[in-house]
Parts: sequence; structure tokens; C-alpha cells
Amino acid sequence: MDSSNLKCLISREEIESTVKRLAADIRKDYHDKNPLAVGVLKGSFVFLADLVRTLDFHHEVEFVRLSSYGSGTTSTGQITMIHDLHVSIEGRHVLVVEDIVDTGNSIAFLINYLSEKQPASLKLCALMDKPSRRQVEVQIDYRGFIVPNVFLVGYGLDYDEKYRNLPDICTLQEVGEEE
Ligand code: IMP
Ligand code: MG
Repeated sequence: MDSSNLKCLISREEIESTVKRLAADIRKDYHDKNPLAVGVLKGSFVFLADLVRTLDFHHEVEFVRLSSYGSGTTSTGQITMIHDLHVSIEGRHVLVVEDIVDTGNSIAFLINYLSEKQPASLKLCALMDKPSRRQVEVQIDYRGFIVPNVFLVGYGLDYDEKYRNLPDICTLQEVGEEE
């Protein structure tokens, strides 16, 4: 894998301590609630895997998948559910786990969709927040990092399905782009 055009923005050590901080905050609110963590595929799978392994209380994990961007880097705003939940969330404490909130379109769609299913509570944990790109208002209850308006890869995030495996969060520099 050619990594010459990758530049580390958030190191694995920074990610690790932030995941611990988020887990401690989540613990305070959910330790006696058997919450349901709902990961948003595919981007959140690495974050969710690390996050749940730092939670020392009972919880369950489910996944949803929303329509993606195709191979580009910008949102269309037209969101559809392509993998739905297979369990009832009525009366459950639901924590949505997302990699990054960019325009906010995907997560606003999902929160609206889940809220109609009468969960006991519904909150959002996002590893990253890119507020400069926001098109719809989104409440992030547990937020890892605020990131600038640059396209990021690694730690589950992809560019054209590549780079999800990188342990750090990196920017992709175009060929010929100066430092
Ligand atoms: P939004 O609907 O624009 O908020 O973006 C939703 C999804 O797009 C996120 O959950 C990510 O999976 C993906 N995404 C947004 N920004 C980036 C990025 O910088 N790199 C990789 N994926 C991104
Ligand atoms: Mg995502």
C-alpha cells in the first residue's frame, strides 16, 4: 500500500486516550441501563470495536448501514437505509456510534428514523465533528475531536473503500500538492 501521500492528523495514541475519555463519560450515564450501541457502517466499525472494549458494563451492539457517497468525497443529502436494525428498540436506551459528522445529513436522518421507534433515550457519540461543513443541526452528546475541513482517512474512514485499516487518522494529499 502506497502511503507516501498520507499525513497523520490524529495519532493512534491520541485516539486511544480520547476513546477512554468518551467511554468514561458513557459509563457514567449508562452503566446500569444495558444500552444498545448502534454502529453506523461502515465507517464506525473500528471506533465501535475499540469503544465497546473499554466499556466494563453490560450493553448490546447492533449495526445499521446508510447509503454511502459512492466513490466521491461529498454528501448528496439523499440518505437511505440499506441495512436496518433487526431488533426492537422500543423502551431501550440507544447510543448511536458514528465515525464523523460532516454535513450532518446522514446522522440527522438516522436520529429522526430511530426516534420514531420509541426508544427510552437516544444519544449520539461521534469520534469526529467537522462543524464547518454542517448543513443540518445535529446534537453530539459525546464528541471525540473537532476536525478541520479536510478529507480524512484511516481508523475506519475510507477514500474509495481504501485506507480503513490505518491505525491513525490521516489527510490524503493530492499528487503534486505542496506540503
Ligand atoms: P454526512 O452525512 O455528510 O455528515 O457524512 C456522513 C458520513 O460520510 C460519515 O459518517 C462518514 O462515514 C463519511 N465521511 C464524512 N466525512 C468524511 C471524511 O473526511 N472522510 C471519510 N469519510 C467521511
Ligand atoms: Mg459514518
